[in-house]
Amino acid sequence: MPSFDSRVPAVLVRLDPNPFHHGTLGAARSLGRAGIAVHAVVESPSSPVVRSRYLQGTHVRPAEPSPAELTRLLLRIADRLPGSSAQPALLVPLDDITALFLAECRPELAGRYLLPDQSPEQLTRVADKAQLAETCRALSLPHPRTELPTSADEAAAMAWSLGLPVIAKWSRPWLLPVGGGLRSTTIVGSLGEVRELYARSPQAGSRLLLQELLPAGRDLDWFFHGYVDSTGGCSTGATGRKERSWPDGAGLTAVGRWTANPMVDTMARELLGALGYRGVCDLDFRLDRSTGAYHLLDFNPRPGAQFRLFADRDGLDVVRAMHLDLTGREVPAHSPSYGRRIVVENYAALSFLASPRRRYTPEPGVARPLAERFEAAWFAVDDLAPAFAMLRAWLSHALRKGLLALRRALRSRTPRRVAGVTSPRSAGTRSDQMTQHEPL
Ligand SMILES: Nc1ncnc2c1ncn2[C@@H]1O[C@H](COP(=O)(O)OP(=O)(O)OP(=O)(O)O)[C@@H](O)[C@H]1O
Ligand SMILES: [Mg+2]
Repeated sequence: MPSFDSRVPAVLVRLDPNPFHHGTLGAARSLGRAGIAVHAVVESPSSPVVRSRYLQGTHVRPAEPSPAELTRLLLRIADRLPGSSAQPALLVPLDDITALFLAECRPELAGRYLLPDQSPEQLTRVADKAQLAETCRALSLPHPRTELPTSADEAAAMAWSLGLPVIAKWSRPWLLPVGGGLRSTTIVGSLGEVRELYARSPQAGSRLLLQELLPAGRDLDWFFHGYVDSTGGCSTGATGRKERSWPDGAGLTAVGRWTANPMVDTMARELLGALGYRGVCDLDFRLDRSTGAYHLLDFNPRPGAQFRLFADRDGLDVVRAMHLDLTGREVPAHSPSYGRRIVVENYAALSFLASPRRRYTPEPGVARPLAERFEAAWFAVDDLAPAFAMLRAWLSHALRKGLLALRRALRSRTPRRVAGVTSPRSAGTRSDQMTQHEPL
């Protein structure tokens, strides 16, 4: 294991209220096991990650997060960190909104915290999905055809010319109201739904994008995780393949495998170079079989939830690389561990229930210890409590959802009288929801 400056604590920050975010736990374990004191800002003191033995302190995120509120909280935390007057702490954002807020608060946090050299404009250029489409166009990077309608009629016409079904996305999904029923990414199958979605733009808080749907399929989804250090080098970076996702076929990684993909690797590194990017990133690609081109679908300017997949045999991952680099230590070479898998237990179980028969051939290679070949997102022998807490929270969440669905089903079977006419109740939303900002 490389030698870390263990005097420098780390504060993980996640403003997204999703309690099932396994990346936060991965970061706590990665840094905690390296002997670094880890604190976290999360949605609630009962969040499963709070049970980790590697967390030394937990702080609840501001109720109405804003850059100013976050700065105030982080300065209060810094005052309480041991030795903070002499030593700034490392900040690790775990979702897009946090990464953007931290880039904005950078001047106020200077001297108290260590952050990569990122400006809010640089991050918005890739995190905002409308700007990402523009960035790809400017750099001639393959990206699904994207349209930005300015009226409901135009949205319907654009969806028609893209070909139904289309992908509908909000350019800044982090502005979506929690519990408002809007999702970051949706497959839309009819022009009526496109119009309905467009009408909800004011509620969404950002622009609606319509995008050509690239067909899903086995082995088509890839991701790249990297850390670009202060000199612009990206020695810690690797490509992986989504073997299972949830929702099945489109969504977050439920099972991922470290797999070499020189084309994706080169595209990602060239893009990072062209942008002058610094810090951690997580990029999603999908192969368009008809053209053989890998399309960049998403650029997350922070560690992806499954970043621990790319922990090499010395334990080096993007979060550790950031700690080493920003504390002035040398970042050693990242040694590939092809074939290593990450399994996100809760989402993998759902994906398995949805399509139990999918099989993958094992990657040929030298026999390595299980710990090097496999990582569970929640279960860890040295840190059992978060997995049990997640299971409890997940079961009660599933039960609540199940009861709600049952109530809806029972209601829809009961004929309703509306102004003297008997009519069946609407079956609810018809869109196929993909990306989750609500857990199940
Ligand atoms: N144009 C497209 N064609 C087909 N599938 C798509 C397309 N765009 C997105 N997807 C699917 O939807 C998923 C989520 O989309 P996207 O990554 O843009 O949303 P996100 O909210 O930023 O996701 P994350 O929370 O993972 O950052 C992708 O991983 C992919 O599986
Ligand atoms: Mg994203």
